[in-house]
Amino acid sequence: MKIGFIGGTGSEGIGLVSRFAIRNMEVGIGSRNIEKSFNAAKEISENISSSGKIFSGLNSEVASESDIVFVCVPYGAQKNIMKDLVQFLVGKIVVTVVVPVVFKKGMIEVSKTQSSSAAIELQDLLIESRVVSAFQTISARDLKAINNPINSDVVVCSDDKSALNVVMDLAENIDGIRAINGGKLSNSVYVENITPLLLNINMIYKKHTAIRITGV
Ligand SMILES: NC(=O)c1ccc[n+]([C@@H]2O[C@H](COP(=O)([O-])OP(=O)(O)OC[C@H]3O[C@@H](n4cnc5c(N)ncnc54)[C@H](OP(=O)(O)O)[C@@H]3O)[C@@H](O)[C@H]2O)c1
Repeated sequence: MKIGFIGGTGSEGIGLVSRFAIRNMEVGIGSRNIEKSFNAAKEISENISSSGKIFSGLNSEVASESDIVFVCVPYGAQKNIMKDLVQFLVGKIVVTVVVPVVFKKGMIEVSKTQSSSAAIELQDLLIESRVVSAFQTISARDLKAINNPINSDVVVCSDDKSALNVVMDLAENIDGIRAINGGKLSNSVYVENITPLLLNINMIYKKHTAIRITGV
């Protein structure tokens, strides 16, 4: 199974690619620039000792080659970039990690989305794909510290139950992550709202926070 990353050259993409590659999974880094994706893949391969195969290419190439595709671009880029990729994502599981945040006067806020959440907007753009929302509360910094377990829960939401189960299993390949079934995709809005809260708490305490759901 190949897992591709649109915008995989950013911090969150690199962190997730590294975590899956160390579990010997086949992962692909997509970019708007082929050289940038090649260099990111090379850098990750050098940083981790694993037999997992990392491939690279333009976003369209990686989307087309992969069975599961992660969307790791800034919220503001989501709509435009998907116009060119929709055809490569038909029938596939598409995992969004996108958080619609804005930075205002030293604080972090959720930016207004056209519909209720970034994940719902993505599903509206990709009507023939199986959109799953996950990983919004897992920081790139934690993901990139590959020798440390993550020690956090990941809430996974989707309207497609089998896709949701696939992504829950995938998430638990990452050391220290427990996947929580967050129910339907419309619940993603609540998860997307937790991340700015965590970032603001990080600034106040000068610490690095994550979430655990207790009672389940
Ligand atoms: N960073 C975190 O700790 C974190 C945690 C949880 C969730 N997230 C979410 O994960 C996503 C990625 O975060 P990130 O920090 O990795 O973001 P980023 O570094 O700002 O962007 C990721 C990649 O997106 C591509 N990109 C940037 N602007 C674009 C545009 N206008 N059109 C098309 N592609 C564009 C770039 O790839 P190319 O230049 O190679 O095309 C870039 O390397 C965001 O939605 C963020 O909210 C981030």
